[in-house]
Amino acid sequence: MFVSDCLSVNGAGHLAIGGLDTVELAREYGTPLYLMDEDYIRSACRMYQTALTDCVGGNSLVAYASKAFCCAYMYRLLKEERCGADIVSGGELYTAIRAGFPTDRLLFHGNNKTEDELKMALHHNVGRIVVDNCEELHTLNALAREQGKIARILFRIKPGVDAHTHKFIQTGQIDSKFGVALENGEAYQIIRESLKLDNIRLMGIHCHIGSQIFDTEPFALAAKIMMGFIAKVRDGLGYELKELNLGGGFGIQYLPSHDPKTPAQNLAALADAIKKAAGEYALSMPRVIIEPGRSIVGPAGITVYRVGAVKEIKGVRTYVSVDGGMTDNPRYALYESEYEVLSAADADGERSLLCTVAGKCCESGDLIAKDVLIQTVEAGDYLAVLATGAYNYSMASNYNRVPRPPVVMVGGGKAKVVVRRESYENLVQNDIL
Ligand SMILES: Cc1ncc(COP(=O)(O)O)c(C=O)c1O
Repeated sequence: MFVSDCLSVNGAGHLAIGGLDTVELAREYGTPLYLMDEDYIRSACRMYQTALTDCVGGNSLVAYASKAFCCAYMYRLLKEERCGADIVSGGELYTAIRAGFPTDRLLFHGNNKTEDELKMALHHNVGRIVVDNCEELHTLNALAREQGKIARILFRIKPGVDAHTHKFIQTGQIDSKFGVALENGEAYQIIRESLKLDNIRLMGIHCHIGSQIFDTEPFALAAKIMMGFIAKVRDGLGYELKELNLGGGFGIQYLPSHDPKTPAQNLAALADAIKKAAGEYALSMPRVIIEPGRSIVGPAGITVYRVGAVKEIKGVRTYVSVDGGMTDNPRYALYESEYEVLSAADADGERSLLCTVAGKCCESGDLIAKDVLIQTVEAGDYLAVLATGAYNYSMASNYNRVPRPPVVMVGGGKAKVVVRRESYENLVQNDIL
């Protein structure tokens, strides 16, 4: 019935997450409130690890994409689950270090890492730096020399697979700010260049073809193209790239109509393509790295809001206004993302109210869900928005000086705050009068 297995309806008809009553949690911790199911997150990490190991062997790595949901507790959890992590900023690196995450399991991405960020990554012995372009390669080499280190790198490659067109095409992605392209020779050139540098050790290549992808074919095609390129580099430059990082992008269920693949299905398709290409090009199997973000935390999270006003504009639309909005979930405003919404206290009730759920910010575009059919609600009721675990808290802002909600993790039948609610004092702490 629900878009995630961590949700259920209890005897009172209330929505429960990880077996805990969301109405009670909202009363205890206030709203808006992010609730996340730790058991779900842990089991998603394990599912990916088991599937990847089964498909391509034990030296592979599941590196969770921190951008989906990042806080110290998440790194603690990933450390315990023996995952790696993809980071894209000094801030994510700092959070990982503060949480005691092993830095050799970090991969540092980004199309414009600053010198300070590169220095920090080298200083803390980040496992892999995913180099985006030629300037960065030379800067990194110089900074590594200064620190007396060898930087272990992957290159970000544009494989030319556009996973978001219905019939994905092989040349569409050259126009992307990330990485170097295959089809114009850029990728080959940068590899040749890197092999001349004393403080760089090239370990492999990386691509990430998009997000919220439901088909396995684009992943398999990207894997095949990347393996073909590994063969080309071996044949042309006599250098065998040992690591293949295929990024993330596995789709999740936001709406009942969505039908995502399981980790095992996605990874089997990937592995088949890699193995086939290895045979075809007489290559040894590379160490495979994947970077799922959304599919590890997305379905694990919900957001609970309190309804402030229900405004019926006769013959036009009914707006249900809630006490959060684009500040805690900018995804409707950014991409018109769709969500499943329901009354937390009447989760199984008949859906008879066609409405648009609006946030409290001074923007007409501040919506959470447009034209959704939900149970009848009135001021004071709680609304739950499902599958908000990814790219909600991590994309939250203080627009209109709205404090960010807390994150409460449920697990083993208990709840605990892992990120506190921001206070007004937090909002002004960097202001200078
Ligand atoms: C390099 C890289 N890896 C992994 C991810 C995670 O993607 P997803 O959350 O869709 O799994 C992203 C998302 O933008 C990315 O850019």
